Amino acid sequence: MSEFIPVLELQALAPESSQMVEVKGCEVLLCHSGGDVFAVANRCTHQQQLLDGGRIRRGHISCPLHGVRFNLRTGEPMGQLTRVPLATYDVQVVEGMISVSVD
Ligand code: FES
Repeated sequence: MSEFIPVLELQALAPESSQMVEVKGCEVLLCHSGGDVFAVANRCTHQQQLLDGGRIRRGHISCPLHGVRFNLRTGEPMGQLTRVPLATYDVQVVEGMISVSVD
């Protein structure tokens, strides 16, 4: 069974922004877009750039280095630079607290 670990209050994550958190030794990037909260691996699958700080729009994050866009829900990349999806993690928001499972 998945274990959800509380990581951040929702009010601390502005719309269309991200915040890196560490969960069981994994660097997880929380992203708030279009009213939903997503959790993805914080490393681009092209050249391992940190995604933290990448632009977030309409359910996607753009890598700060070469601009590959990843779908935050599925992890799927767009364009030719990489075909490897980002790892995505399950998220729950309960009473204003974001919890993530990395199991
Ligand atoms: S390292 Fe992310 S697009 Fe190249």
